[in-house]
Amino acid sequence: MTKLAFIGAGRIAQAIIGGLINQGFVAANMTAADPDTRILDSLPEGVQRSADNLQAASDADVVILCVKPNMTKSVVSDLASTLTGRLLISVAAGIRASDLTTWSGGTTVIRCMPNTPALIRQGMVGLYSSDASTEQRTLAEELLSAVGSTAWFESDDDLDKVTALSGSGPAYFFYLMEAMIDAGVALGISEDASRTLVLNTALGAAAMAVESAESPSQLRANVTSPGGTTEAALKVLASQGLPANMDAAVRAAYHRAIELGENASPR
Ligand SMILES: NC(=O)c1ccc[n+]([C@@H]2O[C@H](COP(=O)([O-])OP(=O)(O)OC[C@H]3O[C@@H](n4cnc5c(N)ncnc54)[C@H](OP(=O)(O)O)[C@@H]3O)[C@@H](O)[C@H]2O)c1
Repeated sequence: MTKLAFIGAGRIAQAIIGGLINQGFVAANMTAADPDTRILDSLPEGVQRSADNLQAASDADVVILCVKPNMTKSVVSDLASTLTGRLLISVAAGIRASDLTTWSGGTTVIRCMPNTPALIRQGMVGLYSSDASTEQRTLAEELLSAVGSTAWFESDDDLDKVTALSGSGPAYFFYLMEAMIDAGVALGISEDASRTLVLNTALGAAAMAVESAESPSQLRANVTSPGGTTEAALKVLASQGLPANMDAAVRAAYHRAIELGENASPR
């Protein structure tokens, strides 16, 4: 069976480890390395623990890099000699696969961008690799599907776009929920009731959009009766520029993702 080493055993590593155990992956085939012994103590039973990244990686077929983006260059460079012949999967936001390949001395790299609902296994994960084999791609997809849905992309630039859309996307929806809850409170509904109404509406709308064969645009049209309440609200959102604002917001996140990659490895 494939042996995995997680370098960094924080939130995203623990989400993937938990998801894999849930799917029947044998805990003893996973090693997690982290300098924080409290983090190591909190790992599920059976998972091997190590304070030494090199030792963890040297026993693995696949090394999954789960450290903060600003740590990636030094961590991968230190591991380079051990990474030969192994697959390196990185979840570090903004860090380009091309840089990971350079720092690792030519190891095959798969760059992934999960989002925060991965922590409850409802994430969206974008993946990209320039050189992984079909078998390596299938393996990465199996591993990452432990925390949500997966989709492949064609370039590092695409992954910066994924970062802007689904990576940062949960916060856009949280912001919308926050604004709707505040609007309910401003109308005189209690905060608790407003929260219940808004969160369940968000959940129902997302589930309906995912399950329906119709586009979100058509679903919106279906509930917008001429002269009705929904139309009155949507007219205000359109006239105050919701689509243009969202376009500008996603572009800002995309440019910031590019900057983060540049900062990690200036060209
Ligand atoms: N959480 C998410 O929803 C999410 C979504 C998308 C992408 N990501 C990416 O996932 C990566 C990890 O994020 P996270 O939320 O899991 O962060 P986290 O909870 O802070 O986990 C990172 C872990 O790495 C440890 N670490 C620090 N230096 C290390 C080293 N040299 N060797 C090994 N481990 C080391 C940290 O220990 P200390 O705390 O002691 O420093 C910490 O336990 C980031 O690159 C982030 O961009 C996360």
